[in-house]
Amino acid sequence: MVVAGKGILAADESVKTAAKRLASINVESTEETRRQYRNLMLTTPQIEKYICGVIFFEETLHQKSNDGVLFPKLLAQRGIVPGIKVDEGLAEFEGSVEQYTKGLEGLGDRLEKYKKFGCRFAKWRAVYHITENTPTEMAIKRNAHDLAKYAKTCQEHGLVPIVEPEVLIDGTHSIDACHKATENALREVFAALKKENVMIDCAILKPSMVISGKEADNRAGVDEVAMRTIKVLKAAVPFELPSINFLSGGQTPQEATAHLNRMHTLNEKLPWYVSFSYARALQDPALKAWRGKDENVEAAQQAFLKRAKLNSLATMGKYTEDMEEMNLDAVMVH
Ligand code: G3H
Repeated sequence: MVVAGKGILAADESVKTAAKRLASINVESTEETRRQYRNLMLTTPQIEKYICGVIFFEETLHQKSNDGVLFPKLLAQRGIVPGIKVDEGLAEFEGSVEQYTKGLEGLGDRLEKYKKFGCRFAKWRAVYHITENTPTEMAIKRNAHDLAKYAKTCQEHGLVPIVEPEVLIDGTHSIDACHKATENALREVFAALKKENVMIDCAILKPSMVISGKEADNRAGVDEVAMRTIKVLKAAVPFELPSINFLSGGQTPQEATAHLNRMHTLNEKLPWYVSFSYARALQDPALKAWRGKDENVEAAQQAFLKRAKLNSLATMGKYTEDMEEMNLDAVMVH
């Protein structure tokens, strides 16, 4: 799962989130349309050159490709590691905008079941809302505690935990506010992982980047996002962690690629492998090209492969903006 030049595809949208994505291209969300969409991505020729793992939602584990092969098996045949989102979504703290993540109860039994389907890693997402008064210490502590319990349970059952603390991009907050919230959240997460005796060298961190709120005035540019993100990670993340794979969190595909690329051109020594685990930033161009039509599948696969290739280049600091306009074959891997 930690391979130079490769990253992870997050294809773990819940049924509700998948319905939102499909609605954006006027496709009704059914078990079959969700299967078709996942089939499109997972059968894209050559994705194994850029993608080393895929995170599934439970429904997809039981589904088959157009050729009748179970998706986890199809991936394994292509040398891609299948993984699974194991949290059960978010719940509100009473009287607050803040949220915690459900799913610890019965987690061990579910992990055993997922292992039988070929899953070798898991993912759990916690979220942090930035407002004038949040994230509070209470939410930061609760999410860190639950992420650590989840990670420990995964390791006890032989799965690699992806730990995903996401500081949400929604709002008008400054990059300073995001910097502070991200650093506080990460410090608490690693303190909790240590307390739970989680093996840090057998876990993956999936953080958000340090970035201005989506509706902020004067949003920080690529340089500042990259510099602040690496600064926070160096301050809060132990060096024995093998890999950091960012989520895209509502950035445009181009932004997410440019930010990752810049982190690799800062002239900073990075102690971990730094890569991607994007959902929207990898999938959006493919979704738009597909529009639910068979005749668009090839174009959608090309769009998906191109995004995967650009992000692969970004993990080596070799992406340039002009590649956005090139067709896939013209984007050379040096
Ligand atoms: O949990 C969220 C996904 O794994 C990452 O999605 O890249 O669209 O933020 P995103």
